[in-house]
Parts: sequence; structure tokens; C-alpha cells
Amino acid sequence: MAISEPSGASAADNSALPLEGQVALVTGSGRGLGRTIAEKLLSLGANVVLHDINEEAPSRFGEAASLSALAESMNDSSAADVVAVVGDLTDEAAVKALVAAAENMLGPISILVNCAGGDVGANGDKPSPATPTNFKVDDVLAVLGRNLIGTMLMCREVAPGMVDRKCGSILTIGSILAHRGSTEEVGYACAKAAVVHYTRSLASELRESGVRANVVSPGPTKTARFMATRETDSKMDDSGPSLIRYASPAEIADAVSYFAGPDSRYISGQVLLVDGGDGTYAC
Ligand SMILES: NC(=O)c1ccc[n+]([C@@H]2O[C@H](COP(=O)([O-])OP(=O)(O)OC[C@H]3O[C@@H](n4cnc5c(N)ncnc54)[C@H](O)[C@@H]3O)[C@@H](O)[C@H]2O)c1
Repeated sequence: MAISEPSGASAADNSALPLEGQVALVTGSGRGLGRTIAEKLLSLGANVVLHDINEEAPSRFGEAASLSALAESMNDSSAADVVAVVGDLTDEAAVKALVAAAENMLGPISILVNCAGGDVGANGDKPSPATPTNFKVDDVLAVLGRNLIGTMLMCREVAPGMVDRKCGSILTIGSILAHRGSTEEVGYACAKAAVVHYTRSLASELRESGVRANVVSPGPTKTARFMATRETDSKMDDSGPSLIRYASPAEIADAVSYFAGPDSRYISGQVLLVDGGDGTYAC
């Protein structure tokens, strides 16, 4: 007996560009991991909306002159379209405006990647102290804002349209610290754990519509910010066969593209740790 594919889900096709015609918005994609994810989705045929908190964010660690300059250069080297929007994701009005601007330029968003975030406290630096018994409330609120609240606001703004169209994939970047206790980065670990729980809740709500929501939790990854803001271990900065090393941004982007594309069409509410097997913790 032949078994047919469900009509709502787009079954995997054999096209060379599996995301052709889709619109992907990647938050925090002016630099770092978000930028690599945006480039990967573009290479798979998606039209891409770059986003950052402001025009200058890509220049902070020398990755591009500005967000517009990055969008222009990506646009020039691709058949698909690339546009850019800016806005602080902790600001409800800004989120509304940037999603409207994105959809005005490229049409309905079918792939949302929540990548903006990081362990950045109230004064713009890594919070210190940030242990379970010694932390500043302002830092915890800032970290929760940029990781959890920004993700929730983006999903609240984008998901209803996906539900109406019965089509969409939402992918949020977590962290291995979401899955184990942290003595040094407690606010960040709690914020990323909350992002995981929010995504599971969202996936349940969206199930009937066919819209999916998943998390990719990276281990330490060699982004420009990561390399510039800490003392790195040279033994981990290796590109050999061993998995005991830092990840490259491309290795995380490959996992994200799986969740964005048709090959994961029956997978939702899941968390994939992309950490080279360093999984000494419960999921
Ligand atoms: N690099 C790693 O080792 C690593 C590991 C696990 C998880 N992560 C996560 O991956 C994501 C990207 O990290 P990265 O290493 O590329 O760092 P990054 O600092 O280069 O990227 C973060 C991006 O988010 C943007 N952003 C931050 N707060 C924002 C806000 N309120 N509104 C709008 N944009 C905002 C920043 O401007 C920046 O473009 C983050 O969510 C981070 O927590 C990174």
C-alpha cells in the first residue's frame, strides 16, 4: 500500500536549493553566529532578512563596516534577496516595527532564527560577579532581556502569521549552559534554560498548525566576539579530527539549516546539542 505524505507539510524535494522562495529572518545576524547562519540559509536559496540592534553592531569585532554594507555585499553575491532591519529586541514597539518592515520588503517570514543574545550584562560587558550566590539584579535582567524576552517577543510577532499560513519553522539558539548548572554565568545559564522551556511550550501551541519550533544548543564556538572577549585555550583551537575543540560557526549553522529545511518536517519541540559530544549533562 502506498503511504502518502501529509498535505500541510512540505515534503523534502530534490531541488538543489531546498529553501528557494522562503523568507528567513535571523536575529543578531550582523555578526558572529547569526551572520554565518544567514549566509548558510542564503546559500540554500532563502531570501534573507539580516537584523541587528543597530547599524554599527557588525563593526564591533571587525566583521563588517555596517549592517547595510553587509546586506549589500551578500545581495551582490547571491541570486536571492538580502535586506536589513534594525531594532532592540527587548523593545516591544521596535520588534513590531522591524517585523513589519521585513515583511513589507520580502513578504511573509517562513523561517525565524532567534540568534540574538549572549552573556552581556547591564553595562555592555560580561556580568561579574555572576555566581548563584553573588550577582547583580540589573545584569540578570539584562541577560534575560536579550536572550529570553527578545526571543519571546519575536515569536509572538512572527508565529501568528505562520499559523495562518500553516507553514513555518522557528529555530532558537540556546547554549550547552541551558542544560547544566553554571557557577560562573548563572544569569545566562538560567536565561538559556528558559529559552528551551519557552520553545517547548511554543511547539505545543503551534503543533496543530504544522508550524515547528526547535532549539540548537551550541558548545563554545569560535565567533569573533568569543575569541575577542576571553582567554581561549589554544589546545581547543584546533581544526583536526578530534571533537575536543571549539566549534566553528559553520558547524552550528549546518544544524540550524537542518531544522529550517524540509528534512526535519516532522520534528518539533526538540533540542539538539551541537557540542562535539561533550554531553555530560541531562537534556
Ligand atoms: N559563541 C559561542 O560560544 C556561543 C555558544 C553558545 C551559544 N551562543 C549563542 O549564540 C548567539 C550568537 O552568539 P555570538 O557568539 O555570535 O555573539 P555575538 O555577540 O557576536 O552575536 C550576538 C548578536 O546579538 C545581537 N544582540 C544582542 N542583544 C540584542 C538586542 N537586545 N537586540 C537586538 N540584537 C541584539 C548583537 O548585536 C549581536 O549581533 C547568542 O545567542 C549566544 O548566546 C554562542
